Amino acid sequence: MNPLDLRLETPRLILRVPRDGDAEALAAWLAEWEIARWTANIPHPYGIENARSWIADVRASIEAARALTFVIERRNAPGAIGGVGVALDGPGKEGDLGWWIAIPHQGNGYAFEAAARLVEFCWSMEMTRLTAGALPDNAPSLAVARKLGMRPNGKMLRSQPARETPRETMEFVLTR
Ligand SMILES: CC(C)(COP(=O)(O)OP(=O)(O)OC[C@H]1O[C@@H](n2cnc3c(N)ncnc32)[C@H](O)[C@@H]1OP(=O)(O)O)[C@@H](O)C(=O)NCCC(=O)NCCS
Repeated sequence: MNPLDLRLETPRLILRVPRDGDAEALAAWLAEWEIARWTANIPHPYGIENARSWIADVRASIEAARALTFVIERRNAPGAIGGVGVALDGPGKEGDLGWWIAIPHQGNGYAFEAAARLVEFCWSMEMTRLTAGALPDNAPSLAVARKLGMRPNGKMLRSQPARETPRETMEFVLTR
């Protein structure tokens, strides 16, 4: 199967590989500083060109087995409302999870539902260890990690490609 055709489902959601037609929705949601500020990789300001190049990069990473990155859609209303993904290490046994949900759609349990499905898929791919990092004051993200059963694993200074300086993150780990 072509990895770009990968699609995961949950009771309410569809996780599918980003495509060019997602650029406008992504640019609209990700332009919000209230989303970007909590993340390491989302530039600010953020426009349609950022979304287009992100989509191209993501698709290349998936084809090269460096990441599994999905947009999240509701089953009953097509259109990306969030994202969830895992950056893979070289041998593909370990990965680092990330998630975001557009502001109007937060608080519905979508991040947990999508991330839990991705975790299940990672285990089915024989992965053995997943990590996640969140800023210490990112209460909703810390809650998602804990709800996934991830164990706190101390703090770490993580580089933040879209920010000027590394930031201290709370680290979480989950093993199969
Ligand atoms: C983190 C984020 C993805 C959560 O999305 P969401 O779909 O609203 O999350 P869910 O509804 O699945 O669950 C959120 C959990 O956080 C809890 N929560 C929400 N706001 C909270 C707050 N201010 N304090 C404590 N817990 C909070 C919810 O109660 C829920 O836990 P529960 O199911 O046990 O009640 C979303 O807030 C977001 O996109 N934030 C900006 C980007 C981001 O932070 N990405 C992660 C970077 S590490």
